[in-house]
Amino acid sequence: MARKFFVGGNWKMNGTLDSGKKLVAALQEAKLDPNTEVVVAPPALHLLFVKELLAKDSKIEVSGQNAYHKVSGAFTGEVSVSQLQDAGVPWVILGHSERRTIFKETDQDIAEKTKAALDHNLKVIVCVGETLEEREANKSIDVVVRQLNAAAPSVADWNKVVVAYEPVWAIGTGKVATAEQAQEVHAAIRKWAAEKVSKEVSDSLRIIYGGSVAAKNCRELAQQPDIDGFLVGGASLKPEFADICNARL
Ligand code: G3P
Repeated sequence: MARKFFVGGNWKMNGTLDSGKKLVAALQEAKLDPNTEVVVAPPALHLLFVKELLAKDSKIEVSGQNAYHKVSGAFTGEVSVSQLQDAGVPWVILGHSERRTIFKETDQDIAEKTKAALDHNLKVIVCVGETLEEREANKSIDVVVRQLNAAAPSVADWNKVVVAYEPVWAIGTGKVATAEQAQEVHAAIRKWAAEKVSKEVSDSLRIIYGGSVAAKNCRELAQQPDIDGFLVGGASLKPEFADICNARL
């Protein structure tokens, strides 16, 4: 089954309204591969603004960078899954390594958020990935499988999920995983899906790579059989993001 190439731009906590507007204008002017699904994740404060700017080009969708699983209440500083749904934000990133490491989110937290997001009709980019220490101890696949096993019971419909493999040591470091390193883990994730969920889900599940993806390295990665796209941080704030969206052209 053909899996549509997927490229997400995770803007993280960067930019201003003005720089967001410029990024949207650049995307609208770029000639993007119609066979790539493009999603951008601006900071929460900028989400609706960017969504409105993009409305003219309905092909690019927006994503939250995180969401809280409770619908409403005394949770100062949080944005809920139902608020994203109410605002017409179709996607949310969950389990990003910055949420796991800096904000101490656990596998269990991410499982709860995943369930809540899917229950509120959001599509979810679930992030997994090992630290450098775990890779050096040969535990990359064990860690990723542990993270996926925790999230899997929350997922009833895998069509609404994209898995992002983001090795922590490659994020924002300029040290991109080699195509072989990334492909090995992506193949292991696909094998996990076949065994844990079903062959059909395994064949259709999009598994994207994140970690220092740039225009100069995206093409080789995009040619790997189990790499179905990218989650891009730093380079999503630059004009080269369009080249990454076109990595399969
Ligand atoms: O979510 C994207 C990410 O963490 C990778 O960031 O800056 O290494 O592309 P970067």
